[in-house]
Amino acid sequence: MTSDRAELAARFDLRHLDSAFYDDPFPTYHALRELDPVRRMPDGSVFLTRYADIVAVYKDPKTFSSDKHEEFAPKYGDSPLFEHHTTSLVFNDPPLHTRVRRLIAGALTPRHIAAMEADLVTLVDGLLDAMAHWAGAGETIDLIAAFAGAIPVEIIGNLLGVPHAERGPMRDWSLAILGALEPVPSAEMQARGNAAVREMLAYLEGLVARRAQAPGDAETDVLTRLIQGEAGGERLLAKELLHNCIFLLNAGHETTTNLIGNGLRCLADAPAQKQRLLDQPELIASAVEEVLRIESSNQLGNRITTAATRIGDVALAPRTQVTLCIGAANRDPAQFPDPDTLDIGRTPNRHVAFGSGIHQCVGMGLGRLEGRIAIGRFVARFPGYRLAGPAQRSRRVRFRGHVALPCALLG
Ligand code: HEM
Repeated sequence: MTSDRAELAARFDLRHLDSAFYDDPFPTYHALRELDPVRRMPDGSVFLTRYADIVAVYKDPKTFSSDKHEEFAPKYGDSPLFEHHTTSLVFNDPPLHTRVRRLIAGALTPRHIAAMEADLVTLVDGLLDAMAHWAGAGETIDLIAAFAGAIPVEIIGNLLGVPHAERGPMRDWSLAILGALEPVPSAEMQARGNAAVREMLAYLEGLVARRAQAPGDAETDVLTRLIQGEAGGERLLAKELLHNCIFLLNAGHETTTNLIGNGLRCLADAPAQKQRLLDQPELIASAVEEVLRIESSNQLGNRITTAATRIGDVALAPRTQVTLCIGAANRDPAQFPDPDTLDIGRTPNRHVAFGSGIHQCVGMGLGRLEGRIAIGRFVARFPGYRLAGPAQRSRRVRFRGHVALPCALLG
């Protein structure tokens, strides 16, 4: 056992991962946390797996910067992907970060999110009706295509006021741009990502022009808020506005699809926990938190040091790239007893699936609401659902989810 762990830890290289790792990275993360929690990678970066270290990094944005110009220049060259990522709030420090964040956060308060619930329930129930119809005809349903992947695109589309008829390409654009964030994107992934940024910019330019002509309600319409800027404050440059809209459209997509897909998979794999949720539907909120913890949609985050510092007994020079392994932090036994077991009533559950500190996810209230409504209503409608074929995981290390989840819903 110890030697297995030692081998797993010794073998780990983010740039060369095998299929077994994509299926189940957690044994490797446990091994690293135990044996090499501040792992120095061959490229000089460090890979963190302890909860306490990761939270400490999140809480010190002065020493651990989110600015990605240095890291992304060699990765993307002078390209649309480079311009996009280095202009998004998540990959910037204050002051750009602060301005954009305030504008977005103002339209995502708990009051605004509560106001989205009725439309979300209608959307989810419509999808459940359609699935019931196909399942009645004996078809196996892919829960990603028919359900988990269909919800966030609509919700984010509503948030930015994208007309329904124009939402078709959004999911593919989003997958292409986020796919190119993998540690070693292939030339094809980069080409797809660059094309998606170009197409999305062209689309959004038109949308912004239309919205500037006919503004929406700045209270609730994020695009109108971003166009108008802060009352008496600065406005975003055209480039900042477009790239942050792209980011927002992307940030809420795959992450939330993965939350819903991972949740339904976890419950299918743990029938006693599914039954517990059926018996006590009020556990849905803590069930969603537990899915976020045990199968975190977003597994990795990144920072770069601005000054010499230390993590544990490892000294870091200025400009050291730091990878925060959220997936490992969320299964750290020092923070979560019995961390590999799904416990939908787990409390406390202070996971870092949404990050922490000044960049903590602005959309977490919305992501949680989508998770609660989608998973809760699905399980209530199809209590006997079960996997009906091999679940296909996406081969991504940063975003953990499925590309296909075939299920039988009835019987
Ligand atoms: C289950 C769903 C979601 C997960 C797991 C998730 C995860 C995260 C994480 C880990 C970060 C922090 C990145 C960092 O510190 O480096 C983040 C940031 C962010 N997320 Fe989410 N997210 C989710 C849903 C959403 C949704 C629905 C939206 C939009 C409505 C959204 C918008 C954002 C934005 C704008 C940021 C950047 C915040 C900043 O830099 O200040 N996210 N998200």
